[in-house]
Amino acid sequence: MSRFTDYFALYDPVAAPFMHQMLAQYDKTKPLQGITIVHNVPLTLTTLLKIACLDAAGADVTVTNPSFMHKAPKTIEVLQQEGLRYQPLADIGGSFDLLLDCGAELIEQCHASQGIVELTRTGAMRYEAYQDAHVPIVSVDNTRLKSLETCLGTGEGVYRAIMKLAKKQLHNKKLLIFGFGKVGTGIAYYFSKITQDITVVDMLPERLQRIEKRGYQAVSAELPQQVEAAIKQADIIVTATGIKDLISNSYAPAWFKGKILANAGAEDEFGFNFKESEVLAAKKPVNFALKEPTLMRFLDPIFYAHNLAIEDVLNDTTAGFRPLNQETDKSIVEQWAKHHGWSLDELDRIF
Ligand SMILES: NC(=O)c1ccc[n+]([C@@H]2O[C@H](COP(=O)([O-])OP(=O)(O)OC[C@H]3O[C@@H](n4cnc5c(N)ncnc54)[C@H](O)[C@@H]3O)[C@@H](O)[C@H]2O)c1
Repeated sequence: MSRFTDYFALYDPVAAPFMHQMLAQYDKTKPLQGITIVHNVPLTLTTLLKIACLDAAGADVTVTNPSFMHKAPKTIEVLQQEGLRYQPLADIGGSFDLLLDCGAELIEQCHASQGIVELTRTGAMRYEAYQDAHVPIVSVDNTRLKSLETCLGTGEGVYRAIMKLAKKQLHNKKLLIFGFGKVGTGIAYYFSKITQDITVVDMLPERLQRIEKRGYQAVSAELPQQVEAAIKQADIIVTATGIKDLISNSYAPAWFKGKILANAGAEDEFGFNFKESEVLAAKKPVNFALKEPTLMRFLDPIFYAHNLAIEDVLNDTTAGFRPLNQETDKSIVEQWAKHHGWSLDELDRIF
């Protein structure tokens, strides 16, 4: 498998309808003919479909990979076969029409003459604080469609990974989750299919209310004795707060003995008191132990939106930071739900 077409065959129109639709349309209309783009998104086999769409649109694409991720080895071979340029992030510089960024890394070293599109929360926060914007900066993070990936996609991946790595029957076990952000919400949703005994710890009163509204037991992180009791009762404990060393800094390691432990956060949330062997996937984000940490069906809409936001940038040239326009966001979520057989009410209940 060394051509874009191989990956469009692997991720067929059932798994990736947005990518297939975009490829067909861009191939016909060439809307980005001659536009120079730097593409800084984790370079995985799934990302190849996204890059292929830009290439089909006629864009002159330079591909790189964010500093915080290893690129998938096979990807470079495919890009070479397709005649596309790959450059390590450190070597990227100069002026381009558009920066398609992840984590606001490109702005340090490139000049954008027409606009920027950002993928992540961290990057959006950095770009939002950027005072001297001379071009439009559109974020696809501040959208509802992002929840399809971060909440449902990550939740499903974490659930799938724990089911596989735990190597035991987990039905009706007691689950405890730290953090009810997008990731914790998705994890609770997928586990609710196999257990009714779900407790979630969070800091924020608004989140604690939301936990109860979803039918789970809420425990405030401000009440250590209640957290201790919840830890001692749990069979499975999953962290999703984004806080490094949270568990080691706050709770006694002895309370966690004999339980299935998994971290969903980017940082090691169990921390220095826990050995790699005590936490599934050696303490790394547990879904990354899988061949597909997030299934293509959840990546497809966000890849599509990140590319489509170029049209937003080119059509409305007002300088400064803004989220992707709401109509586009709404339309993508509706199309996704229809294609994959979810009702909008069901999505509202989860998010
Ligand atoms: N594994 C993956 O594939 C994947 C994908 C996306 C994001 N992530 C990571 O998952 C983590 C969570 O992401 P998110 O978008 O849900 O973040 P978020 O900020 O939306 O949610 C974090 C939640 O943790 C709560 N929290 C803070 N301190 C707490 C404490 N002491 N005890 C309990 N709860 C506490 C916050 O109130 C918040 O509700 C981040 O590290 C993120 O980078 C992982």
